[in-house]
Amino acid sequence: MTWADLPLLGNQIMKTLYIGIQKGGVGKSTQTCQLAFYARSQGYRVLVIDFDDQANTTHCLARSGKVMPLSKTVTEVMMKPVSINPDNSGFNILAADGRFNGVLVEQARVKVEVGGIKTELSSLAHQHFAQFLESMDAYYDICIIDGPPSLDIRVTIALTLANAVLSPIELMQESIEGMSNTLYGQRGILNIKSILNPKLQFLGFLPNKVQSNETQRAALKELNERIGQHFFTNNEGVVALIPLRSAISECQKQGISLADIVKTNTMARSTWANLRKIFDLILERIGVEEHSQVEHAQIAHDQTEREVGEHIASNIIHLAEQKARVGGQLG
Ligand SMILES: Nc1ncnc2c1ncn2[C@@H]1O[C@H](COP(=O)(O)OP(=O)(O)O)[C@@H](O)[C@H]1O
Ligand SMILES: [Mg+2]
Repeated sequence: MTWADLPLLGNQIMKTLYIGIQKGGVGKSTQTCQLAFYARSQGYRVLVIDFDDQANTTHCLARSGKVMPLSKTVTEVMMKPVSINPDNSGFNILAADGRFNGVLVEQARVKVEVGGIKTELSSLAHQHFAQFLESMDAYYDICIIDGPPSLDIRVTIALTLANAVLSPIELMQESIEGMSNTLYGQRGILNIKSILNPKLQFLGFLPNKVQSNETQRAALKELNERIGQHFFTNNEGVVALIPLRSAISECQKQGISLADIVKTNTMARSTWANLRKIFDLILERIGVEEHSQVEHAQIAHDQTEREVGEHIASNIIHLAEQKARVGGQLG
């Protein structure tokens, strides 16, 4: 089987977002979990898939008590054809089991015989995963795949089958290497888009854990000069930023949404207002549509809405200032 024979998906209702970059600790799992909580609160039916053996997302969502794992794990789905009937909760995870690397990544080139035809394990896994995603189309509006911190067969499978990809980064000069590989490498987004998956949409690099200090400002300026057209920007063309906030890591530890914390932690409100705007943009750009009967959950409380609006306004001013500081070149 050559690359040209790899399975693709037709037009699905379920939109698949891959959150990935060849770097750990940048916020892939955090954004996966927080976007999943938010999308569900907006009434979308959400499937999360954990491609990382470290299973941070699997554990975070398990702690939430709101997300049931599907009856098979991610490795089981890759290894053989399965038939899964999700419950009707509209919020599930295809959990990590810590075996992806051992049974698949390290054995990717091993040939196996199926129906008298010899195939590489990686191609077989690819086919099984494509079939799995196809079979989930009827049950979910959005599927979010949390990527590993490496560039291996998982990345090719995800990018070939996804509709969109988002890459969180940290603002450091060294980030340029991971960003370049993520875009231009053999398993890079642009390569896979041009050869295999023309519908793949790169939403952009999204700086996370941003601090307002000279080092990060200098890194933003340099990264922007080198690769600026690939940043995630808001509708005004300003680079979106997620600040470093203990409330965010606290939410991940507890398995809750930042939307839940702002009810009691007023300090976190502007952070949530900022993050929520970014999540709305992501959902809008992927073109997620709601097909469920589920009532919209009440997420924001009316009495905080006005304050949140004020924070959004001040955040836009902040972003505009930041844009001016880097010479108006962002976006
Ligand atoms: N914006 C943020 N502010 C504070 N802590 C964050 C933020 N984003 C992520 N973290 C924390 O950083 C650590 C790494 O994030 P994680 O999402 O696990 O990264 P990755 O999945 O890319 O390895 C986690 O402890 C997480 O809670
Ligand atoms: Mg992770």
